[in-house]
Amino acid sequence: MLTNFNSMLKTAYAQKKAIGSFNFYNYETLKGILQAAEQMNTPVIVSFGKKYLSNMSFAEVKAITAASADLYKTDVCLHLDHCDSMDIIYQAIRAGFTSVMYDGSALSFEENTANTGRICEVAHANNVSVEAELGSLAAGEASHEGSADDKEVYTSPDAAREFVDRTGVDALAVSIGTVHGLYKGTPNIRTDILQAINEKLHMPLVLHGGSGTPEEKVKECISNGIAKINVNTEISDYTVQHTRALLEKENPHLSVVALNQMRYVEEVVRKYMGIFANQ
Ligand code: 13P
Repeated sequence: MLTNFNSMLKTAYAQKKAIGSFNFYNYETLKGILQAAEQMNTPVIVSFGKKYLSNMSFAEVKAITAASADLYKTDVCLHLDHCDSMDIIYQAIRAGFTSVMYDGSALSFEENTANTGRICEVAHANNVSVEAELGSLAAGEASHEGSADDKEVYTSPDAAREFVDRTGVDALAVSIGTVHGLYKGTPNIRTDILQAINEKLHMPLVLHGGSGTPEEKVKECISNGIAKINVNTEISDYTVQHTRALLEKENPHLSVVALNQMRYVEEVVRKYMGIFANQ
């Protein structure tokens, strides 16, 4: 069933687990994610970015996600990933997305707060959950989010408290050293900053840049308030690498390539779901 992320994230936060938010770009990636969720018996967030609007329109995304989600027993949240355009967010809400992320992290604190507050009013009136971001992630390699010159700005715990109070946002994405894309060196994840944010907020926090983040660090983050973790780059990398190997071996029909790609996506998503269960 399609749902917003509020109850799944509250439960995950209380149980010190995280729900995976996995990016999809077409039917195969969506289906691979949903198959993994069914096998791992976990709710899931399927996340679509405006960058992929040239692959599918919001109406098409809503239609295939709702139809596919009905075939599975797990709750599915259809989420709009990083979006800096309020107009596009309203389009996603009208199309039937159950959750949106407004990314005003490049704006001043005041502008980000005002815009996020406005998005929350509209989204909440439509039973749609809202994630926003304070601070900003650096760019790693092969990232499909942000831009190559993005610099790291850690989230301030005091500013985070004020931001949440003034906007009414449902979940907050924090910047604590993860990067979008692949790490260029050894990751330096500032769980001390995360701990301070969690002590101030006591609400579900979001970790972007899941790909390649060391497992013990991910688990430490989950134990300190991270209840939603985003993964994009590794879904694409793993699937492209395995597709290349398949094509080098044989000359399959396109339908067989598509079936295999669902399986590759399912494998990488299942690995992350196992880590996010934090056992
Ligand atoms: P990665 O591509 O590093 O997994 O990050 C994904 C992300 O944060 C999507 O918003």
